[in-house]
Amino acid sequence: MRKLTLVLVCLLVALPASAKPRLGAIASAHPLATEAGFEVLAAGGNACDAAVAVSAALAVVEPVSSGIGGGAFYLIERRGGQALFVDARETAPASATRDMYLGADGEHDRRRSLDGPLAAGIPGEPAALAHVVKRCGRLDLKRTLAPAIRLASEGFEPDAFHLLMAGMRKAALAASPAAAAIFLDNGEAPKAGFRLVQKDLAAVLQRLARAGKAGFYEGETARLIVDGVNAAGGAWTADDLKHYKVVERAPLRGRYRDMDVLTAPPPSSGGVALLAALNILEGFALDLRDSVTGKHLIVEAMRRAYRDRAEYLGDPDFVAMPIAQLIDKNYAAGLRAGIRPDRATPSASLPGAPAGPEGTDTTHFSVVDTHGNVVSATLSVNIPFGSGFVPPGTGILLNDEMDDFSAKEGSPNTYGLIGAHANAIAPGKRPLSSMTPTILRRGDTMAVLGTPGGSRIISMVLLGALEFAAGNDDPAAWVSTGRYHHQFWPDVIEYEPEGLNDTDRAGLERLGHTLKPVDRRYGNMQAIAWQPANGEMKAASDPRRKGSAQVR
Ligand code: GLY
Repeated sequence: MRKLTLVLVCLLVALPASAKPRLGAIASAHPLATEAGFEVLAAGGNACDAAVAVSAALAVVEPVSSGIGGGAFYLIERRGGQALFVDARETAPASATRDMYLGADGEHDRRRSLDGPLAAGIPGEPAALAHVVKRCGRLDLKRTLAPAIRLASEGFEPDAFHLLMAGMRKAALAASPAAAAIFLDNGEAPKAGFRLVQKDLAAVLQRLARAGKAGFYEGETARLIVDGVNAAGGAWTADDLKHYKVVERAPLRGRYRDMDVLTAPPPSSGGVALLAALNILEGFALDLRDSVTGKHLIVEAMRRAYRDRAEYLGDPDFVAMPIAQLIDKNYAAGLRAGIRPDRATPSASLPGAPAGPEGTDTTHFSVVDTHGNVVSATLSVNIPFGSGFVPPGTGILLNDEMDDFSAKEGSPNTYGLIGAHANAIAPGKRPLSSMTPTILRRGDTMAVLGTPGGSRIISMVLLGALEFAAGNDDPAAWVSTGRYHHQFWPDVIEYEPEGLNDTDRAGLERLGHTLKPVDRRYGNMQAIAWQPANGEMKAASDPRRKGSAQVR
C-alpha cells in the first residue's frame, strides 16, 4: 500500500495539476473562430470537427469574407496519409444563362454580377459542414456548430476591418432591407463599439445542426431563401437548393525538389497554376541566383502559369481540361526554355487570354490535431459581404461568386484577346476559383497554408511554398514575406513595399518589367508547421490583419 501511495505521489509531481492534454494547432483569421476550434478539440473532436467549428464561427464573426451563404474548399489529410478534397464551391442556378450579365450594349454589367440576389450562386458551405463532420469528424453537428450558434445569438463586437468594409459595401447592404437591419446601424456603417447580433442566422444554424444538410437545403430555411431571392429579382427554385451536392475530388499532387505538394484541383485554378509555376522554377537553381534574377524568374513562371489558367480551366464536371499536361515536368521544361534570364517576356508575345477581375474577400484557416489529421481550408463569399443580399428571415448573406465566371466568353475583350470558354456560365456549373488550400511536406516537416486574395492567392501561396522549400520551417516567415505578383495580364508586376527593395525594382525595370506598387498590403495567410515525428507545432497568422494562430 505504501509503495502504491509513493508511486501515486511521484506521478502527481511529474504531472502538475495544471497539465492538460495537448490539443493541436489552429490558425484562422479571427480569434473567436480559433477559440471555437479549440473548444471543439477540447470536447474530444479532431481536426475535421475543429474545421467545421472554425468555418461556422467565421461565418458569424467574419461575414465580410465567408459564410454559410458562400462556398469553400477543404483539403484534408487524415492520419495515415489518406487525402481528400471537399469541393463545396457554389453552383449556378438552373435559370442561369451564358449572357445573363451582359447589358443592352452587349458589355458585362458588373454591378449585376456583384450586387443583389442575381449575383449569387447556390451556397455550398452548409453542405460541406454536414459532409466533413460525417466523413471524418468524431462529433456531430450539434456540438461542432454550438460555438457559432452562441456567437450569433449573443453577438460580438466587429473589428476595425469589418467596420471599414461595411462602409465600403454600404450601398449594396442598404439595398437589402434584411441585410441593412443586421449589418448597418440606422442605415449607416456601424462604428467601433457596435454589437453584431444575428438571431436569424442562429436559428438557421440550429436547423442545420438538428437536421444536417436537409436542415438548410430543404424545409423552412430553403423556403425562406428561395422566396427572398425571387421576391428581390433573382430566379431560384426549391430544386436548385435540394440538388446541391458537395463533390469529393482527388487532390492534385506534385513535387518540387525535395518537397511534396498536395493542393487544390479544379474548379480551383490554384493547384494547377501553383504546380505549373513550381515545375518551371525547379530547373532554375533559385538558391544560386542574385535577388533580381531570382525574382525575375519567379515572375516569368507566374506569367506562364497564369496564362494557362485563364485559357484552359473551369468546372471539371463541364469541361475537359489537359490537367496532366499542364502539370507535367516536360511541359514545364518547354515553358522554361522560353524564359530569358536577361529579359522580361512581354505577355503580348505569348498566346493566351486574360482572366477576368476577381473578388478578394475570402478567408483561410489551417488546423492540425494531435491524432495526425490536417485540414487546410479556404472559404469565400467573394467580394466583401458577398452580394450584400440577405433573404428576409435568414440572416444569410448570399455570395456573389457568379462574378467569378467569365461573363463574356468567345468575344474579344478590351485588350482584343478572346476570352476562354472553359469558365463560361451554365446552369449547375461551378465558377473557376483561385482558392488554393495547400499542404506541403519536406523531410520531417509539414506545412499547412493558404490565404484569401482573389487572383493573387496563387502567387502568395507560391511565395510561401518557395520559402518553405528553401529550408525555412518557420510559418511566421511564410506569412510575413513581402509579396509581388504577375498574372499574365495586365503585364505588370504588382508589389507591396516589402516585396521589392530599391535594388530589385531598378534591376527588374532594367530587364524590361513594368512595376506597379499596390495601394495596400494584401493577403491574410494562416499557416502551421508540424513535425509528425516529434509532435512539434508552430502556427502563424499574417501580420497584415488580426488573425489568431495558436498551439495548445
Ligand atoms: N472568389 C474568390 C475565388 O474563389 O477565388
